[in-house]
Amino acid sequence: MKDPTCSEVWQNPDWKKQNVLLCAGQPQVMQVLTDWNNFTSEEQLRRIKTNAGPIYVTQQPDNKYVCPERGLYEYTVNGHNKTQELNYHSESFQTNKALFSYPEDDAFLDGYKAGKKILDNYRKNAEKISHNYFKAELRREYFQPAIAEIWQTWYGLPDGKTLLPESWSWKRIVDVISQTDPATVARTHAVCPGDFMAPSRGSVFPRPSEAIRDFAQMHGKAILKAGREFVALHRTNVNLPKTRLIAQLFKVTSDDEVLARNIIGTMIGAIPPMDANLRNILFEWIDTGRLWRHQAAFKTALKGKTVEGNLAGAMDSLRTPVSQAMCLRPAPDMLFRTAKRTTRIARSKGNDISSKLDGAWTHEGDMVLVSLVSASQQSLHNDPTGRSGIDVIFGGKRVAVPQGYELKDGKDKPGQNPNSNLPVHACPAQKWLWAG
Ligand code: HEM
Repeated sequence: MKDPTCSEVWQNPDWKKQNVLLCAGQPQVMQVLTDWNNFTSEEQLRRIKTNAGPIYVTQQPDNKYVCPERGLYEYTVNGHNKTQELNYHSESFQTNKALFSYPEDDAFLDGYKAGKKILDNYRKNAEKISHNYFKAELRREYFQPAIAEIWQTWYGLPDGKTLLPESWSWKRIVDVISQTDPATVARTHAVCPGDFMAPSRGSVFPRPSEAIRDFAQMHGKAILKAGREFVALHRTNVNLPKTRLIAQLFKVTSDDEVLARNIIGTMIGAIPPMDANLRNILFEWIDTGRLWRHQAAFKTALKGKTVEGNLAGAMDSLRTPVSQAMCLRPAPDMLFRTAKRTTRIARSKGNDISSKLDGAWTHEGDMVLVSLVSASQQSLHNDPTGRSGIDVIFGGKRVAVPQGYELKDGKDKPGQNPNSNLPVHACPAQKWLWAG
């Protein structure tokens, strides 16, 4: 079938005219996420390229875009104009490999220690004023500081120099704070985790509001600048301490622009779902009154040992309740792709896509929404532990780096199998779920 050309539909899709299809079934969701040849992430790339840069989760594995200029990245560093040809495989492979091989136990402990450190601080401060209680606003004063803490363990970011530790901020970002820009309304530095939300939403939400799009531009540019400064700082001062993961990423990524983009890009991929799943899980447990039951079960599972002393028991006691809560209220709850051509999304019988059954047909330029929430709830219905259904919340299961495309003669060769269940962009850090 003929490839589409870079018409208006692709340059800037008109939301009033664009058809939208919703895939709610698990097999249909997986069909769309797997078949990157017919369902492209080019629109996500178009949206984020001008702020946080063309991060690889938005790139196509064959590096082919309907509007060919999308595959070129023009940017300015230190007053020099540069152009880079995007290459999904070479940009993503080593970074995904590093994330994919990070041990599950370590991720669990990292998360546990980060959360504990924040709570211990509150406890200590309360004791200083002879209180045996404290109050904290869950998102701004617990989850987001804990997320900043965990990224310090993983990447050494926020480092307090290039990126500051802070929750969401409404302040404008300026180069220099002047008298007309008092510190109450403006700031000079990007913050983590606060500035990682809007760029993600601006790119992967199907219809982000004008406010989200504005903040995505401001925050996305600021975090990319911070990423570039962080990389330059560590390249020039090689003796500055680096975390295990950051040392690895520096070693395997020779291009500093790609390195900066990957550091920022992986944080954009991670921070919004970490933040949202934490809130959703806790809401679910409090709303149903199960929080206290899970806490008691957790304590029993430790069998009098510390968490470090009984990691397997600690993780086992949480696996089912966390999976169930995530399948009920997943984040992201939805992803989208854009149809490149007329393609059939097959109807299914049970979990099997049958070629004999009719289905829905997409046409060039259609927005195809994949509802992760209905797929994960469907899985929860089939397996009430939620443990087999959780993969879909991570965009499918990653079993290898790379996956979902073939490499031939050193070149990326489109290779697809809609039933393979191996989506190219599936999260490389699913095992890190515990950290969130
Ligand atoms: C509860 C936590 C998380 C959830 C629910 C989640 C979910 C997802 C989903 C749905 C995708 C696929 C997006 C798409 O197909 O458009 C994805 C990709 C990705 N995630 Fe995660 N994620 C989580 C945590 C993390 C963490 C902790 C990291 C890094 C440390 C991370 C790094 C990435 C990267 C790099 C990709 C892109 C992979 C590629 O394109 O090759 N994620 N994630």
